[in-house]
Amino acid sequence: MEKLNKEHKPHCLILPYPLQGHINPMLQFSKRLAHKGIRTTLVTTKYLYKVLQESLGSIPVETISDGYDNGGVVEAGSTEAYIEKFREVGPKTLTELIEKLNNSSDTAVDCIIYDPFFPWDLDVSKKFGLVGAAFLTQSCAVDLIFYYVYKGEIKLPITENEIKVLGLPVLESSDMPSFIYDYGSYATAFEVVLNQFQNVEKADWALVNTFNKLEQEVIDWMENFWRVKAIGPTIPSIYLDQRLLNDKEYGFSILKPDTDACKKWLDERQNRSVIYVSFGSLVRLEVKQMEELAKGLIMSNKCFLWVVRESEESKLPENFADETSKKGLIVSWCPQLEVLAHDSVGCFITHCGWNSTLEALSLGVPMVAMPCWSDQSTNSKFVSDIWKTGIRTRADDKGIARDTEIMRCVELVMDGDEGKEIRSNAIKWKEMAREAVDKGGSSDRNIEEFVSALVNPIN
Ligand code: UDX
Repeated sequence: MEKLNKEHKPHCLILPYPLQGHINPMLQFSKRLAHKGIRTTLVTTKYLYKVLQESLGSIPVETISDGYDNGGVVEAGSTEAYIEKFREVGPKTLTELIEKLNNSSDTAVDCIIYDPFFPWDLDVSKKFGLVGAAFLTQSCAVDLIFYYVYKGEIKLPITENEIKVLGLPVLESSDMPSFIYDYGSYATAFEVVLNQFQNVEKADWALVNTFNKLEQEVIDWMENFWRVKAIGPTIPSIYLDQRLLNDKEYGFSILKPDTDACKKWLDERQNRSVIYVSFGSLVRLEVKQMEELAKGLIMSNKCFLWVVRESEESKLPENFADETSKKGLIVSWCPQLEVLAHDSVGCFITHCGWNSTLEALSLGVPMVAMPCWSDQSTNSKFVSDIWKTGIRTRADDKGIARDTEIMRCVELVMDGDEGKEIRSNAIKWKEMAREAVDKGGSSDRNIEEFVSALVNPIN
């Protein structure tokens, strides 16, 4: 399968929603397809293309318009306006792009791998008679919950505290995605996550960024209604101790990482001695939470590498960076995979965004889970109670994880006897993640099946 002996290589367009947490996994998946002989082209918005030109490297990219070519969502002024305009302009410009590419037999499009945050991508693909593959960027557990809400099988508001969802362990209300409870405040985001399931039944494939052993029960259940294939984790293979692909470059970083400073600083630290702290690309912490976290890090008396995005910097306690410079390094963005793969890192304080969760799990780093919103509580539940590769901080009655609690959790996962099981599970899951994407592993076989269907279409 590695080398396709055909004149026309099947050509897939990859269409992620323009957010870091969606671009990363879809881009990595496209590299895996390219490695198996499929031609892939990443499609992004005209605005992001301008912003990211520097980091594009050799990745083939085409653009469509979201209607805000000079500033994206900032130009739109609100997510609502952005989504509405994208819905109007996106299908038109995607149609034009496919028509342009279809003018040459070399670039003619065979398949659209789309982010179901934009279900209209599938309508466009069907209009052209293309294969349409939904690529779901969150965990299967979270997808299933939203699917049942969309179908009306989970009715809102939920009043009971124990929620039984077929295919999932019993969940408490604090384990459910936050939108289920605060849908009033996040109406647009909630509509987008639910609308993913508008037409996913019509997609030829539902690709999920997970692996069979990680979410077996829920994947089995999903197979009842979709042609679901687990193809993850979409971590560049070089980080999984493989040398299959020359794919170290993650590509398409919206924020600029402070790579040299992080590497130099980590190289000077002892094995497993550093706490890595990051809340991904979107979370905004409350000032009080930031203060407690800062105090907790100092109380732990350990070294820490903390990603504080520029937009969050003003919430740091005054002079904190200077006063803690002997123990801590604060950067505005880092090469997260390189950091997690570094021997000095012994624990990850994370919001449990799905990418961060999968990355830590695949690289064997125990987690202290501090979920903030969206799917993160559900991911934390699985980290702490199902996969047991981390512990979730307990919040006080104001929803804040206090300094002593943060210190307790860090000590437990890094040093304590109680944390031994967590540390050994972290290694176990790392092995299983690697096996899944290794040649002949479950995700690799699923990718082969997808590729094979593209190369040898039935009609
Ligand atoms: C969002 C949601 O918040 C998350 O809950 C959902 O599952 C996906 O979309 P985000 O908050 O950015 O994503 O978190 P996450 O899913 O963890 O993705 C962040 C990505 O940015 C990861 O791939 C991570 O490696 C990368 N990253 C993060 C960096 O490269 N450098 C950093 O300093 C921090």
